[in-house]
Amino acid sequence: MLLVTGAAGFIGANFVLDWLAASAEPVINLDALTYAGNRESLVSLQGDSRHIFVKGDINDRPLLSQLYATYKPRAVVHFAAESHVDRSIHGPGAFITTNVNGTFSLLEEARLFWNKLDDAEKSDFRFLHVSTDEVYGSLAPEDPPFAETKAFEPNSPYSASKAASDHLVRAWHHTFGMPVLTTNCSNNYGPFQFPEKLVPLVVVNALAGKPLPIYGDGANVRDWLFVGDHCSAIRSVLEKGRVGETYNVGGWNEMSNIDVVRTICRLLDELAPDSDGPYERLISFVKDRPGHDRRYAIDARKIESELGWRPSETFATGIRKTIEWYLKHKQWVLHVQSGAYREWIDRNYEVGQ
Ligand code: NAD
Ligand code: DAU
Repeated sequence: MLLVTGAAGFIGANFVLDWLAASAEPVINLDALTYAGNRESLVSLQGDSRHIFVKGDINDRPLLSQLYATYKPRAVVHFAAESHVDRSIHGPGAFITTNVNGTFSLLEEARLFWNKLDDAEKSDFRFLHVSTDEVYGSLAPEDPPFAETKAFEPNSPYSASKAASDHLVRAWHHTFGMPVLTTNCSNNYGPFQFPEKLVPLVVVNALAGKPLPIYGDGANVRDWLFVGDHCSAIRSVLEKGRVGETYNVGGWNEMSNIDVVRTICRLLDELAPDSDGPYERLISFVKDRPGHDRRYAIDARKIESELGWRPSETFATGIRKTIEWYLKHKQWVLHVQSGAYREWIDRNYEVGQ
């Protein structure tokens, strides 16, 4: 049995759906159902006894202790986090509470449980921490992509909180011998992503005839990976990763934001044409994100050579699947666009930008 945290969110939900499509091994899904958590993403698992959903916080240590004791998971896959950079600028507190303190709580309760296992179970146990390339900081155009040896230089409250959690995970291995693994992945896109992030925001706004906000000059670069490929990388690391190691995960697919947005517009012109004209007419340059990292890029050679992992989607195939998914799941989008969502959009994209 796996204990998966944050699997009502974007990547966690994709991970659990992919996992249960291929494996009989049950999953306990611990999720606090913040604004980013949505049980509707897992509706296809209703009635499936392999998916045990527990609404709860990773800071709730009595609950964690009870879950470890009851289910005796052989591994933890830790996705739960506050994940949106812009929100970390408006309100960093929740990022420290969940990403730093929550990871600490989860590690400590895992350690108490792990200490009581017999030797064979101890060495088989895994704590896999899902992290981000943002911990490495920002690259200049001529810099090589991030390797696992790159020093941490986090620049936003979000990336600083994730870097802190990565350090905790590392220390729990070095000091206590816990069998941990860490993955640092680049930007994901795909089904079930909350429409505060660039790709789904652009799709949803375009279909509603609203402006497509591009921060600054639109030349910031991200390394885009289809979410299903991130999930397959996590499965590889869980199965074959060397204990105590970190693995960078990326698609060798650097693109500027403006190119990503133009690609989405052109696909929408093909798949959902608008009688008012091409969607690119909606592109609108707005005030830049404070401290906006210029470029991320992942050197994925370690996971490729050690574990034989490769992405199966190109950006062209992955983004088409993603847009098709959003076009087919308009109800899902409508349901996540609650009052709280609209308040966030009003707050982040103030009039006058
Ligand atoms: P998300 O914001 O879509 O989902 C996060 C989930 O965690 C939600 O379901 C939320 O309810 C849950 N959660 C938040 N606080 C919690 C708490 N205190 N206790 C229990 N559950 C809580 O995030 P995502 O995009 O799916 O990212 C998942 C993980 O992957 C994060 O750790 C993130 O840092 C990392 N990551 C994301 C990306 C990306 O591009 N989205 C890339 C690399 C790494
Ligand atoms: O690199 C991995 C990270 O990718 C993850 O760790 C984070 O959880 C995830 O949110 C993502 O962070 P980014 O800040 O890169 O993603 P976001 O979708 O918010 O923005 C992508 C780029 O697009 C970034 O350069 C900012 C820009 N952007 C974003 C929004 C929301 C815009 O230009 N306009 C927008 O409205």
